[in-house]
Amino acid sequence: MHRYWKRFVVRQTGLHPEEHCLDLCCGTGDIAREVLRQYPASKVTGLDFSQKMLNIAKSKSSNNSGIQYLLGNAMEIPFPDTNFDAVTIGYGLRNVPNLNGCLQEILRVLKPGGILVSLDVGKVRLPVIKELNNFYFFRIVPLIGNLLMPGQDMFQYLPNSSLEYPNQESLKRLMFEAGFQQVEIHDFVFGASTVHVACKPTIN
Ligand SMILES: C[S@@+](CC[C@H](N)C(=O)[O-])C[C@H]1O[C@@H](n2cnc3c(N)ncnc32)[C@H](O)[C@@H]1O
Repeated sequence: MHRYWKRFVVRQTGLHPEEHCLDLCCGTGDIAREVLRQYPASKVTGLDFSQKMLNIAKSKSSNNSGIQYLLGNAMEIPFPDTNFDAVTIGYGLRNVPNLNGCLQEILRVLKPGGILVSLDVGKVRLPVIKELNNFYFFRIVPLIGNLLMPGQDMFQYLPNSSLEYPNQESLKRLMFEAGFQQVEIHDFVFGASTVHVACKPTIN
């Protein structure tokens, strides 16, 4: 399902030809490649602080794909102010050490009127579905993960890190507080997965 959500993320950017998108915490480049698939005339930069992830991303893109992959920290984005028309970030904000600091960095590198689209886990609101989702997320996911890749703790990290992460409305508020406007929430599967779309104001 994450592939469908990533396609949705990229559609929200509404990029025009020649516009530049930064895919922050790009990992193995799913979203960066999808940007070029939907907007072949755009420019895409994928940034991640893991060289191993970037190596896989590069191996998945042809040499002339046009995607620039860069090693760098989302807390100190190595680009000047007002450089990008859009920033996408999939399952990244949950992992940064300082959420507000990262939002400020994204705001800094966006052009006025630029758009941020973030995909991450959300919180289910309906009580019964919430219990089912918690059971799936905290019990079944680590179990399946351990069967597929024994000894890896990443399937435990995913639900645990979601506990610390703000719910949809709190994240929306943090985005407003950081200086974004027109923040929208798009929930999937009862809110278990969520996309935030936020704009940098055109007038400072
Ligand atoms: C769960 S993966 C998501 C990858 C990709 N965005 C996707 O949706 O498939 C999170 C990625 O964020 C990267 N990451 C975490 N914190 C980061 C930071 N402060 N700066 C840059 N990359 C970071 C990790 O190296 C990892 O590749």
